[in-house]
Amino acid sequence: MEKKLIKIFDTTLRDGEQSPGASLTKEQKLRVAQQLAKLKVDIIEAGFPISSEDDFEAVKLVAKKIKGPTIAALSRSRKEDIDRAISALKPAFKSRIHIFIATSEIHLKYKFHKAQDEILKLAKDSVSYARKFIKDIEFSPEDASRTEPEFLLKVAKAVVDAGATTINIPDTVGYAMPDEFGKLIAYIRENLPKKITISIHCHNDLGLAVANSLSAIENGATQVECTVNGIGERAGNAALEEIVMVLKTREDILGKKTNIRISEIHSASKLVSSLTGISVQMNKAIVGENAFRHEAGIHQDGILKKRTTYEIIDPKKIGLKGSELVLGKHSGRHAFVKHIEELGYRLKEKELEKIFIRFKRLADKKKEITDSDLIAILEEETTPLTKIYTLLYLHTSSGTKTVPTATVKLGKKDKILEDASCGDGPVDAVYRTIDRMVGLKTVLLDYKIKSVTSGKDALGEVSVKLKIKKEIMSGRAVSTDIIEASAKAYLNAINRYLAIKK
Ligand code: KIV
Ligand code: ZN
Repeated sequence: MEKKLIKIFDTTLRDGEQSPGASLTKEQKLRVAQQLAKLKVDIIEAGFPISSEDDFEAVKLVAKKIKGPTIAALSRSRKEDIDRAISALKPAFKSRIHIFIATSEIHLKYKFHKAQDEILKLAKDSVSYARKFIKDIEFSPEDASRTEPEFLLKVAKAVVDAGATTINIPDTVGYAMPDEFGKLIAYIRENLPKKITISIHCHNDLGLAVANSLSAIENGATQVECTVNGIGERAGNAALEEIVMVLKTREDILGKKTNIRISEIHSASKLVSSLTGISVQMNKAIVGENAFRHEAGIHQDGILKKRTTYEIIDPKKIGLKGSELVLGKHSGRHAFVKHIEELGYRLKEKELEKIFIRFKRLADKKKEITDSDLIAILEEETTPLTKIYTLLYLHTSSGTKTVPTATVKLGKKDKILEDASCGDGPVDAVYRTIDRMVGLKTVLLDYKIKSVTSGKDALGEVSVKLKIKKEIMSGRAVSTDIIEASAKAYLNAINRYLAIKK
């Protein structure tokens, strides 16, 4: 039987970027969009242009540079929003506007103070207005799963008559149950013309985003909205990698296919977590660190005899490379270049030079350099960061009977700044010194440290979450020296804040 295509609409750069602390600069958004294009998603929702100048510029940049997927931009049901979205999408080869308005009683009563007829008119008018500029129009009745089904259908029919080509049904607050949501989708599907695409957009507040999306697919939805690693508002959105791998692994009962190049899943996950600073939970399906680790003796024995005894997905197929020993101190440049190319990195000469030097420095400290080590430094060095401040020198002293102190030298353009401070511990001393040097008041909300690989000489990865004024910013860095990684992660968050503010 011919398998039906399910379109993957990726909203990592819009709903995903709304996760606390996940803000990305426009260059970082472009880097994610490039990876999404490699992953072969059908649609990239690049942002919400009216929300800020930054978002407008990011959508425009992605629209200009990314060929292949359709580029979508979000807009409320207002002319100003639509004009802004259309303008940001102008350079795109294939573009889509995504217009939304809430339709549930609770939103109408408390958010809008409007009656259903007024909302219906706003929805219809905004789609008719957008139709003057663009053909590909997606419409979302926000909080659809808590909207009276009859009113939901009335709105859907009205916007279809006005020119909408995709109707997206969001479970905005993650309230729906799979069976209930499936029935709602079947009702909408049956009552709209066949040429209209039915899409779904599920949040994970009850941990049901993927289950609800699949139930909707079984009931006629042919587009699914999702994010890499499931990042997004509150508990996040449906995870792209989970939906894609369920559709592929259980093709036997679902009978669907996607255009996704699954070998790019692991790289996409790594990239999104490293750029947003949101780490992936260890036991997360498909992309968590433990997803393909077998601890129990019986399982290990089974795996050695036949992999499929305990593994339903071959990790290599989703681009997961083991942590096998790969390179060391005596590895030459040629072997190094060949190896990183095998890992999927094509670098410009200048970048290559920088990374090779960093690799050699690491090889002096660490005997065995694994793929995970290499990926950690490659991601750090190739991530487009606005380096307003760079760490030039760091010295700390601490001990059981001394007051911890830190001396820090930072570069800012061609200026060199130097300062020193005490703290409760060496990391605190470094952070207090940096705060004073950059003149910002920050609150450290979260500090995490983990080793990239095992062993005493492992690279340490530090991730931090800071509150700077009202913004929450994440930062991350790796080094064999955890104090240095801590300082770099902190500066990374500060640099992102300054870049976004600029
Ligand atoms: O969750 C939601 O309802 C949304 C809409 C804008 C589609 O993100
Ligand atoms: Zn959403």
